[in-house]
Amino acid sequence: MTALSRTPRETSVNLAVNLGGLSMKNPVTVASGTFAAGREYHDFVDVASLGAVTTKGVSLNGWEGNASPRIAETPSGMLNSIGLQNPGVAHLKEHELPWLAEVGATTIVNVSGHSFDEYVRVIEALEEAPVDAYEINISCPNVDAGGMTMGCHVPSVEKVVGMCREATKRPLIVKLTPNVTDITEIARAAEAAGADALSLINTLLGMAIDAKRRKPQLARVVGGFSGPAVKPVALRMVWQCHQAVKVPLLGMGGISTGIDAVEFMLAGATSVAVGTANFANPRATVDVIDGIIDYCEEQGVKDVNELIGALEC
Ligand SMILES: Cc1cc2nc3c(=O)[nH]c(=O)nc-3n(C[C@H](O)[C@H](O)[C@H](O)COP(=O)(O)O)c2cc1C
Repeated sequence: MTALSRTPRETSVNLAVNLGGLSMKNPVTVASGTFAAGREYHDFVDVASLGAVTTKGVSLNGWEGNASPRIAETPSGMLNSIGLQNPGVAHLKEHELPWLAEVGATTIVNVSGHSFDEYVRVIEALEEAPVDAYEINISCPNVDAGGMTMGCHVPSVEKVVGMCREATKRPLIVKLTPNVTDITEIARAAEAAGADALSLINTLLGMAIDAKRRKPQLARVVGGFSGPAVKPVALRMVWQCHQAVKVPLLGMGGISTGIDAVEFMLAGATSVAVGTANFANPRATVDVIDGIIDYCEEQGVKDVNELIGALEC
């Protein structure tokens, strides 16, 4: 943290929320993969002042990720096909988690795997580490095995969530893919298998083309679409899941302002994550918290929990 690191402004509004057993000092975390493990952003925001830091997806051993180019810009959104590149769970445990604990951050570790067993082994490797909750990513569109293929199929969702549930008593957040016909079916399966909370949405499968070269812009051709353009889809899915399940929801997809976050809470989210917006504005998280405070103060809302699911249809 430096003199330039920002913290949210003072307020008498109660901002604390509980996400399936995870106490958050305010409803705002970051979307996995857009904030590394927090250290790189600590010069811009005091990461301990966030509701939680969610780390980049971690697997048992390091993954190299996909070939480049693996980022493409589109109007109002971005495509990525990073492919869950990460140095493996031992590195996270040794280098990142102690730092997050030392600065006082609440930590959610995003867990990925190529097989059912790998998810469990990553959790087992972390059980003695300073982790406040796990987010199980069964929704990455950029890997050939595991990821989204698991998150689209009810029996696979039941199996992987059930196995992770047996491996830990810590809060278990299951991250859903929007690339399905009926997200409520997947949400119900994850809840029944033991999820304490659901997070949504991961990226939408998309592609971009360079017409002059007659080539795809991403080496992998297709990738995950995120940013402001996906917000209406994410809001719709949060709203549908809020009616379908009892577990709390962590909403994300295109959030860059406090009003965006409030909209997700009105649709049924207990907490929210800021993702792609961090790339354009590294202080986006604190801007979002301040924006929630502004909204609550203007509207006479004394407790942010009053907003959850308060949409009037
Ligand atoms: C570059 C990049 C990397 C991502 N990596 C992960 C990841 O490792 N695990 C995961 O669950 N989601 C990952 N995501 C998805 C985001 O966490 C989030 O669900 C999605 O981007 C929608 O939110 P946004 O529109 O605010 O970015 C990644 C997204 C981007 C843009």
